[in-house]
Amino acid sequence: MDQPWSFFFGLLLLTLSALMAAANDHHQQKFWKWKSSGSSSSSSSSSSSSSPSPYNHRQAKSSIVFPLYGDVYPNGFYFAQVNIGKPPRPYFLDPDTGSDLTWVQCNAPCVHCTEAPHPYYKPSNELVPCKDPLCAALQPSDYKCDNPRQCDYEVEYADGGSSLGVLVNDVFSLNLTTGIKINPKLALGCGYDQLPGASHHPLDGVLGLGRGRSSIVSQLYKKGAIQNVIGHCLSTRGGFLFFGDDLYDASRITWTPMSNDYTKHYSAGLGELLYGGRSTGIKNLNVVFDSGSSYTYLNSKTYEIFLSLVVKEIRGKPLQEAIDDRTLPFCWRGKKPFRNIEDIRKYFKPLALSFGSGWRSKAQFEMSPESYLIISSKGSACMGILNGTEIGLQNFNLIGDISMRDKLVIYDNQKKQIGWAPANCDRRPQANAYFL
Ligand SMILES: *[C@@H]1O[C@H](CO)[C@@H](O)[C@H](O)[C@H]1NC(C)=O
Ligand SMILES: *[C@@H]1O[C@H](CO)[C@@H](O)[C@H](O)[C@H]1NC(C)=O
Repeated sequence: MDQPWSFFFGLLLLTLSALMAAANDHHQQKFWKWKSSGSSSSSSSSSSSSSPSPYNHRQAKSSIVFPLYGDVYPNGFYFAQVNIGKPPRPYFLDPDTGSDLTWVQCNAPCVHCTEAPHPYYKPSNELVPCKDPLCAALQPSDYKCDNPRQCDYEVEYADGGSSLGVLVNDVFSLNLTTGIKINPKLALGCGYDQLPGASHHPLDGVLGLGRGRSSIVSQLYKKGAIQNVIGHCLSTRGGFLFFGDDLYDASRITWTPMSNDYTKHYSAGLGELLYGGRSTGIKNLNVVFDSGSSYTYLNSKTYEIFLSLVVKEIRGKPLQEAIDDRTLPFCWRGKKPFRNIEDIRKYFKPLALSFGSGWRSKAQFEMSPESYLIISSKGSACMGILNGTEIGLQNFNLIGDISMRDKLVIYDNQKKQIGWAPANCDRRPQANAYFL
């Protein structure tokens, strides 16, 4: 198999609509109609938006923790197990802070589904009506309901993949850290027509953790179950994901305000790039944190400057470009194959993004060499920062999983801030104790 780079083995999930308003030519059509089986479907009042809060844990602090499985390399994705339905069935979902909608491959029946670890989801009978605010949140502003009884959706991701389907309400089985089990009814997408993208992986679906109101965490917050705060701690072999704000001591986290200019994504606003602790002269980078992306992407100009700094740095060191290693666009080999990141740390300098300006103290997001390099199966060191312009990210810069490993990263939608702190992500948080 001859492909230009195998870096597409890394995932890239980020909804495109917010980045590019360009019209997309759909291969798919929304021809599907819910079969009106005799049994009634949606209740007229949407359970997701207007019902009084059935949980009162919002005041009593609580969180929900999901173990994560996977890695950046060689697998190229992380996933969490989420139990949905009655009786609950397990699904492996990709936690994606770059998009809002949670969807699962769905036998409704399926028009086009891809390989999945579990049998396709059998949808509940409870459709989310088109007029539900959760539906509107997923549609363009001029959207007209074709069928008031159902909410059709389509999401497209930056890697070219997409899912088309219909929103249903169904029961999620969740464990709070307080020991209480809750079974909230939440809206999710029954995806019956998927186009795999360039970075496709066999999973059951996507766990949408974006800022929008259809995000699973925003729905849980509306129900009073938890605070609208998401965190993840990725390691080289898993880690964990959590919803809620009681697992960390906020005073130990470096915080920076969430930018309001890009309400669709978790943007930390404008950052300045530092290499080896020194300014590179690159400022005003628009930086988005996206757990759905395995690698980190810089816009072309920044990428070029960064690469030239790295190349300058390794000149005269016992490293050679490994042209035949196509794991990623740029790989270097040493005298002997590298076995782990310790072998190469000395050849590369730390990178950092610095946010905030003026008299306010700056928040630095530091990326040591292990946050931007991987050791390939051939034993070379490969650059895990890629050219975002090449894949249509325009001026956006994405912080992907590779650069968020060994850190607790927190998206606080309540206080509209993004935070991070170094952490050992192979430890699991315990109830009634700060993880950090
Ligand atoms: C919830 O807790 C039960 C044990 O009480 C466990 O069997 C189950 O796997 C947990 N569910 C999740 C999603 O962690
Ligand atoms: C990044 O990609 C763009 C678009 O394909 C290309 O024009 C540019 O030369 C690339 N930059 C680098 C440094 O490779």
